[in-house]
Amino acid sequence: MTRIFTVAIDGPAAAGKGTVSRAVAAHFGLAHLDTGLLYRAVGAKVLRGADPTEAARALDPADLEADLRTQEIASAASRVAVIPEVRAALTDFQRDFARREGGAVLDGRDICTVIAPAAEVKLYVTASPEVRAERRFQELIDKDPTLTREGVLEDVLARDARDMGRADAPLVAAEDAVVLDTSEMSIEEAVGAAIAIVGSALPAG
Ligand code: CDP
Ligand code: CDP
Repeated sequence: MTRIFTVAIDGPAAAGKGTVSRAVAAHFGLAHLDTGLLYRAVGAKVLRGADPTEAARALDPADLEADLRTQEIASAASRVAVIPEVRAALTDFQRDFARREGGAVLDGRDICTVIAPAAEVKLYVTASPEVRAERRFQELIDKDPTLTREGVLEDVLARDARDMGRADAPLVAAEDAVVLDTSEMSIEEAVGAAIAIVGSALPAG
């Protein structure tokens, strides 16, 4: 018997999507795809001079680079993510991943709305911009000591505006998504809440 079970997680930058997704995937034995890495990989190639659409079409998700988690690459990712041809080139891989046997968790911006609208569980993970910027600052400051809190907040807000304002697959909480605001939650609380939501939707056995 096939076991297809999709958990779709969207939300703005540094809301805790990845943390929650990894924990849910580990807890229930599901595969996990951080779809932001696909856009970051394309953004990184564009920073090195590639054409965005060609880079997206040639992307091999099997060899995503190790270090795509910089502010510069995040910003480049959100700039290529407005290009419909780039999004189209990345769609099939994500849809196939969502329907893979054994179940999957995907996190990004358009998972509930475009990639996996039939997902069994839909979550919108969010937090206030200030909380998200502080989390991202703490995460990146060791790697990049030139970062400032104000700069990270500005970057997060600019990226949110671009992601929510674009015409193709804008970031929005799907009507049927459960909203998880983690502004005042520890990682353990956020993960616990997500596991409870997913657990209640899992078929018996
Ligand atoms: O994937 P996304 O960009 O939405 O966020 P993340 O990478 O999961 O989380 C961003 C940072 O916030 C990480 O350093 C997490 O450890 C931290 N975090 C937190 O402090 N409290 C939470 N409830 C969730 C995440
Ligand atoms: O970790 P964080 O939330 O900061 O960013 P990310 O999930 O790695 O995504 C980087 C950028 O890729 C986002 O700002 C979006 O512009 C884009 N993205 C998207 O358009 N659609 C997705 N499904 C995932 C990411």
